[in-house]
Amino acid sequence: MALLFLAIFVATVIALVTTRTRLLRKSQQAQSQWHLAEGKRKDGTIMSNSPNVSNMKEKQPSVLAQMIEPLPDFDWTAVEPTKYRPFKPTYHITMALQTSTPSELIVMDRDYLDKINQRRTIMADNASTVMGVIPEGHAAVWETYSYLLGEYLPTRYPSTFELRNHSHPYQHTTFLNKATGVESPLTPLPSHPIKALKIICETVEDDMFILEQQPDIDPTFPGEHKSIAFVCCHPAGFDPSEKLGKGLKAIHAPVPAYDKIGPSMERYFARAEVGKPVRRVNWSVQTHTRLFAPSGNHVHAGDLVEEETEVDVNTARLRVELQTLTRLPKTRALVFSFKTYLYPMADIKEEGLGPQLADAVEGLKAGNAPGMWIYKGGVRWGKAVCEYLRS
Ligand SMILES: *[C@@H]1O[C@H](CO)[C@@H](O)[C@H](O)[C@H]1NC(C)=O
Ligand SMILES: *[C@@H]1O[C@H](CO)[C@@H](O)[C@H](O)[C@H]1NC(C)=O
Ligand SMILES: *[C@@H]1O[C@H](CO)[C@@H](O)[C@H](O)[C@H]1NC(C)=O
Ligand SMILES: *[C@@H]1O[C@H](CO)[C@@H](O)[C@H](O)[C@H]1NC(C)=O
Repeated sequence: MALLFLAIFVATVIALVTTRTRLLRKSQQAQSQWHLAEGKRKDGTIMSNSPNVSNMKEKQPSVLAQMIEPLPDFDWTAVEPTKYRPFKPTYHITMALQTSTPSELIVMDRDYLDKINQRRTIMADNASTVMGVIPEGHAAVWETYSYLLGEYLPTRYPSTFELRNHSHPYQHTTFLNKATGVESPLTPLPSHPIKALKIICETVEDDMFILEQQPDIDPTFPGEHKSIAFVCCHPAGFDPSEKLGKGLKAIHAPVPAYDKIGPSMERYFARAEVGKPVRRVNWSVQTHTRLFAPSGNHVHAGDLVEEETEVDVNTARLRVELQTLTRLPKTRALVFSFKTYLYPMADIKEEGLGPQLADAVEGLKAGNAPGMWIYKGGVRWGKAVCEYLRS
């Protein structure tokens, strides 16, 4: 009898030990997968089968970094936000791309800190709406993060951002944002791509969609680009989290006449070269002052809308996005980024551009995408805003 108990006891111990070993091995595997994402083992050696992010640990600057022109004495607090007035009497949907340079990826002005503080609040309230990543996007997030914090910002704006080497308690490098006082990990990288996105979100006021070409989403759009990661606190009338994992066609489904530019946009994106970014500017009008507008700015077919007779012209804003498209050299993913500007209607009027903007608002109906009048909400606020602009 005692022998039987002993046998059962020994068997249980063996089973427990085996399970523990298995669990331990599993957790080690999980850990090594974790560090695989970071391209490095815990002891600092590069993993032989690590994804291409490991290349990012190289000491040489990336192809893009070599093209950045430094602004050594730049003082963002002294810079007036650029006044973009891109409206035209008749609205034509076009890509209207202009050439840009790697230096112009991030534009800073005196609204920087205020926007960053607003982004932190938006992120705290609506984290799952404003950032996300699918597994296909991990490597591209690491590359975006390493490039922005490790190369672009400290090179372009050295008076605001700097890298710091530390030897205690271990060798590591951090990124210091002198405007906010926040110090973020660089090597080793943060522990998860979502953490990296969160840091990007409170480091630049630009929103970013990371795109990658996917051959098989929709056979009628071969080589469609898909959103694999995003950080977007300033959506103008859409929920950015609903776009994750989708192709450009599905992303732009609500945009009137998108089919007019969709195929050429896909072709353009596919051909975009490293070191030759492009930019464009688009605009709309909104009747409130919010940057975070995941719904409400746009009107979709079938929505019941009434003309807003009581539009408050004091809160109405011209909303402009300065958009850029950059090819990353290592993962070859595309970063579509945009900075959002809100301008009071009174500013436009003071500049003498009131009648011009009013014509442009009415011109939304007139071009090659007449659905824009409804989509951009002109149907709701157009009359009141135009009256004010012409008064
Ligand atoms: C990594 O880079 C190599 C060549 O540099 C390329 O063939 C491979 O497809 C890349 N892998 C990933 C996951 O991007
Ligand atoms: C954002 O957060 C606020 C406050 O928690 C909440 O009321 C709102 O519904 C959220 N918006 C979205 C789109 O999730
Ligand atoms: C950090 O150390 C590396 C060498 O390990 C050096 O190349 C780099 O210039 C140092 N950076 C700073 C900010 O001290
Ligand atoms: C600008 O265009 C993008 C699509 O590229 C759209 O999602 C966004 O709402 C537009 N923004 C404004 C301010 O019209």
